[in-house]
Amino acid sequence: MTTHLPLLDIRNLTKSYGAVKAVNDVSLHIDRGEIAGLIGPNGSGKSTFFDCSTGLARPDTGTVVLDGQDITGWSLNRIAREGRMLRSFQKTVTFRSLDVEENLIIAGQMFTFPSILSTFSIGKLSRQRIAGLRERARELIRMAGLWDVRHQPAGNLSGGQQKLIQFASMLMPEPKLILLDEPMAGINPKIIERVVETILYANKSLGVSFLVIEHNIDVVTSICRRVIVLDQGQKLAEGLPQDIIQDQRVREAYLGG
Ligand SMILES: Nc1ncnc2c1ncn2[C@@H]1O[C@H](COP(=O)(O)OP(=O)(O)O)[C@@H](O)[C@H]1O
Ligand SMILES: [Mg+2]
Repeated sequence: MTTHLPLLDIRNLTKSYGAVKAVNDVSLHIDRGEIAGLIGPNGSGKSTFFDCSTGLARPDTGTVVLDGQDITGWSLNRIAREGRMLRSFQKTVTFRSLDVEENLIIAGQMFTFPSILSTFSIGKLSRQRIAGLRERARELIRMAGLWDVRHQPAGNLSGGQQKLIQFASMLMPEPKLILLDEPMAGINPKIIERVVETILYANKSLGVSFLVIEHNIDVVTSICRRVIVLDQGQKLAEGLPQDIIQDQRVREAYLGG
């Protein structure tokens, strides 16, 4: 019944820190199945917008509706667990002594037991549930290019591979929506390519929607159908990536910022 509604519908969000209006009356929606981009100069309010959308910070005003449910003021954990909206690499701890596959299986049962002790409840999972998680883990491991190292302790792998483990782990609990804050920052081009492929796979094959803050404009134009631009806490422009990068106001915002 709610399928025609946006998956995420944020209206008139405002958040100030002292005299700074970090986010100033921003409305934004994400459609089901969409990958949208959020860009803007440093300090334009992108991360604060994420904080207020995902329960890390409380907006001063505005509403956040996820899948038809008003979640304004909910905690980060409640939004993750009940709303199935995850933020960046939140909630994924890499267990260095466990192998890649075990790490993903643990991430996958994160919402099965709604308690912080869930990690220790793995023994209570049915064989059938474990088999399902293992199957999903293997699919993601293959996709993330980690197949050959799947039985190695996570702590032995490179920084880039650990990023891929974290990203694959986020997909394990079957979120509806993932908000990524600069996922490509500080990672090498080969890993960037893998993360891009994994995002596209998660979107197409697993039906996960994404809102991505990203400075790498090639990444934005290759994965996003729609881009929203923030400048000084306000929405400056919104549209197709190819139009946005030509937009004079957007260019000025970046040069001026
Ligand atoms: N927790 C905070 N306390 C005080 N000021 C903050 C806080 N978070 C963000 N700000 C301020 O809000 C503005 C927007 O920051 P931010 O959302 O991090 O921008 P972006 O992610 O686009 O670089 C900046 O002026 C920043 O200094
Ligand atoms: Mg930021």
